[in-house]
Amino acid sequence: MTETVLLVGGGGREHAVARALADDVELYACASNRNPGIGRLAAGFSEVDERDTAAVVSYATSVDADLAVIGPESALAAGVADALADAGVYTFGPSADAARIETDKQFQRSFMREQAIPGCPEFETFDDSEAAASYVAAVEHDVAVKPAGLTGGKGVRVTGDQLTREEAVSYVRESTYDEWVIEERLIGEEFTVQAFVADGEVRPTPAVQDHKRAYEGDEGPNTGGMGSYSAPERTLPFLSDADYERAVEILEATVDALPAYEGVLYGQFMATADGVAVVEFNARFGDPEATNTLPVMETPLIDVLTAARDGEPLPELSFAPTATVCKYAVPEGYPTDPAGGTKIEIDESSAGDALLFYASVDERADGLYTTTSRAMAVVGTGPTISEAETVASDALAAAGEGLRYRTDVGTAALVQRRVDHVTELRGEG
Ligand code: AMP
Ligand code: GLY
Repeated sequence: MTETVLLVGGGGREHAVARALADDVELYACASNRNPGIGRLAAGFSEVDERDTAAVVSYATSVDADLAVIGPESALAAGVADALADAGVYTFGPSADAARIETDKQFQRSFMREQAIPGCPEFETFDDSEAAASYVAAVEHDVAVKPAGLTGGKGVRVTGDQLTREEAVSYVRESTYDEWVIEERLIGEEFTVQAFVADGEVRPTPAVQDHKRAYEGDEGPNTGGMGSYSAPERTLPFLSDADYERAVEILEATVDALPAYEGVLYGQFMATADGVAVVEFNARFGDPEATNTLPVMETPLIDVLTAARDGEPLPELSFAPTATVCKYAVPEGYPTDPAGGTKIEIDESSAGDALLFYASVDERADGLYTTTSRAMAVVGTGPTISEAETVASDALAAAGEGLRYRTDVGTAALVQRRVDHVTELRGEG
């Protein structure tokens, strides 16, 4: 039987999900922007705000969806999974309550402490910015200051890295946020492990390294993610097998403490001098990480989703032994002063061997326009990370004027710096 699947969300991550499903299902999608890549793969596309629970449910019902997959955290936070489930549509994505593991950073850290989940840094929570600012001024070690709610990955600041302690105090005091987590700064190399979760089972996927900072050399403000790479094996060049296994154990411990959790659980980890620590959890696929993981997943995504729905054991996952490099092209000025609403030309044929995923672009009658967010991702694959990088770089000729990208993501020099950093931290040189 062909399943009818509704995909919620219109970014690069959701284009990657759509590509992973399109050959096997009857696909429908809804999002606030008309993503041309998803539009082409889907039998139908509805322009509704992905946080509008009533509109999403009404579209799901009108297309007779057998199951739904939710991409963005904003939809999870709005309770779209709950509303679809109430309407009788099985949804792969956590309830708004379970998604607090991502959407409420105070909950995330307090949960880790109470449940003794390994890898939790020292932290304090605050419900008013003045108290948080005083703590930042007084504490001895470097800190990460985090608004508790969703900020599109752009709210966190780290002292000793992006800003001085005085700047962090002013940032907290002058912000519009009230609720904060102030935590110990973790030093090391970040990596992501995403896992499919249902019925207490955890099926991890290969590790990926994302690049949050806007400019080459990890300079500039945080973004939603400028690009990412994965290796032909499950680990990354700067990780030991034990680091990867530790990350999986942490995801398993988290799911043991959240038995009702269903969907993707994304762990953002730091490989530090003392092992693996948790930077944060997300309640969905990463963006860009999904564009690395799904193209090399050999197990059909629909088999995972239907097993979760039918209460059957999740299939063991297999992945092609292939490296991937994703590079995002973003509007000029992104993320601080993005030039949204600019008409762009994307020449798909110049993407060559790379995969092209459309992200936050809007297809209008007279062409393609940027929004204020990331515009498109290209993903190169190859036997090594640096060969995949060359494929991705060559493909970026497809990004016409008005877009820029980070040239360093996935290059041999950058990956070597990651390896050297961890070696130095761990005194293994
Ligand atoms: P988050 O929104 O929690 O993912 O934080 C955004 C980024 O801030 C992360 O990807 C890290 O680069 C950085 N960050 C968050 N927490 C910490 C921490 N405790 N120590 C160092 N960097 C952090
Ligand atoms: N890659 C970061 C995120 O998806 O939140």
